[in-house]
Amino acid sequence: MPIDGTTKLYGIIGHPVGHSMSPAMHNAAFAATGINGVYVAMDVEDAGRAVTALRELGFVGVSVTVPHKEAVMAHVDEIDPVARRIGAVNTLLFYRHPDDGQVVVRGFNTDWQGANLALAEKIRLAGSRVLVLGAGGAARAVGFGLVEAGARVVISNRTEARGKDLAESLGCRFTAPDRLHEVEADVLVNTTPVGMVPHADGLPIDPDLLPRFSLVMDIVYAPLETRLLREAAAAGCEVIDGLAMLQYQGAVQFKIWTGVRPPVDVMRRALLEQLAAH
Ligand code: ATR
Repeated sequence: MPIDGTTKLYGIIGHPVGHSMSPAMHNAAFAATGINGVYVAMDVEDAGRAVTALRELGFVGVSVTVPHKEAVMAHVDEIDPVARRIGAVNTLLFYRHPDDGQVVVRGFNTDWQGANLALAEKIRLAGSRVLVLGAGGAARAVGFGLVEAGARVVISNRTEARGKDLAESLGCRFTAPDRLHEVEADVLVNTTPVGMVPHADGLPIDPDLLPRFSLVMDIVYAPLETRLLREAAAAGCEVIDGLAMLQYQGAVQFKIWTGVRPPVDVMRRALLEQLAAH
């Protein structure tokens, strides 16, 4: 659909943001659904000033990525309750208040829903036991999502204090990396960058432990088949690659912004094309 005077504006703010695959994913979704919208990458250093500008310019929906996911929260009018609990916003919706016509900015977190939807393709989350490796921003979103869905979560992390902090805020257990053989879980989720290019030979867990899990998800997507996923598949586990969470968190954003059912297959294909091009 050609850009014209009525084209709706969407985008992503981050720093840096040039490598983002979200423009390809969302523009493909607009094209597939016939929505007159355009999604661009905006490299910004100050999240607050960016939100003011986006509000004034009439943007409809904006993704927020590193390093602004926490800082942006002070600059929005409303925050979705789960995003508040996670302490990070990755999605902004700009809408006009029905009473006074003023633009309202509402912040959401779709990362946790992305992880849940990816996992829910393969497993019923309620009651599942899930070991999450890592305690950074991604682990926090994944962990909160799992708890929200009724899963029983165990956190493990290289830096014990950080892992224990996250476990405490999730109300779940922490296990040190050298005691992972003691953990009984159905699902393993790696949220650390271990195994990412240029260190693609990295493994975030002892491969001897992999046969214990029925499902293994990696959020690393470069390479798409990480060593973890390769070894997990060889050990008989089902696997979910790192594009799944990205695709589904984008799909939830698309639904929030447009109200239209997201074309998830189109969005995944766009991500795969981006990966192949890099
Ligand atoms: P993000 O916000 O993307 O999750 P992050 O906040 O940098 O990124 O968190 C990265 C996570 O991966 C952390 O849990 C980190 O462990 P530490 O808390 O000990 O730093 C973990 N991580 C990063 N590199 C790692 C490595 N080589 N081995 C094990 N864990 C690693």
